Amino acid sequence: MNLQGKVAIVTGGTSGIGLATVLELARQGANLVLNYHAHPEAAERIEARVRELGGGVVKVQADVSKLGDLERLVSGAVEAFGRVDILVNNAGVETRTSVLDTTEEQYEEVMAINLKSAFFGTQLAARQMIRQGGGGRIINISSVHEDWPMPGNTAYCLSKGGMRMLTRTAGVELAPHGILVVGVGPGAVATPINRATMNDEAQLKKLDAAIPLGRVAEPEEIARLVAFLAGEGASYLTATTVFADGGIMQGSVGL
Ligand code: BGC
Repeated sequence: MNLQGKVAIVTGGTSGIGLATVLELARQGANLVLNYHAHPEAAERIEARVRELGGGVVKVQADVSKLGDLERLVSGAVEAFGRVDILVNNAGVETRTSVLDTTEEQYEEVMAINLKSAFFGTQLAARQMIRQGGGGRIINISSVHEDWPMPGNTAYCLSKGGMRMLTRTAGVELAPHGILVVGVGPGAVATPINRATMNDEAQLKKLDAAIPLGRVAEPEEIARLVAFLAGEGASYLTATTVFADGGIMQGSVGL
């Protein structure tokens, strides 16, 4: 097992890519700090699944847009397992609103959950990794939209653009400590964030047609990449983003 005995924190671990990542890291031998926000019952079910996979697990309720809550996530890891080896900044939301109609509240919510949480999560985890020594891995679940406009989802694109530069800048700053910071840029994935599209047959057909591989990803396909990036095989990757998008960013009708 690639991650035997490692301690991993996953923000937003109760659904979508976060949930798939929790289970994949557990399969690979990691102990998990499972962050949930509003769904303790979901967290309990997932805790049981992680235990079945043989991993240690502790649940921590936290609103990752708040610094004090992020502190509890990191201290929860240290109390339960004595250290932090891997942080996956996964929690994310989108509003599907344009620059013309995004409210201040929507803007602030998206930036706080997607970007502020990743910034301060990185800061707190990196401080702990430096204290304990031996380096670490920080994996930012970004999006193709860190680099590729999504009209009608402007605040989300901004937050992911910020995450792109967080990955690059923190990756450079933390490299001397052996802490590798890598972004994962998924395209369209079958998760709750995409529920509206997934439930609309015509929209889903259009989306599938725009993807060279012809289909949206399953969350597990992203989770396996995260597990790889957390392990020894990815020892020379930092300050960059790995896109797992079925080719969507390069799609061309060839006209
Ligand atoms: C967004 C989805 C979008 C997908 C592909 C994701 O990052 O959350 O709303 O469908 O990118 O464009």
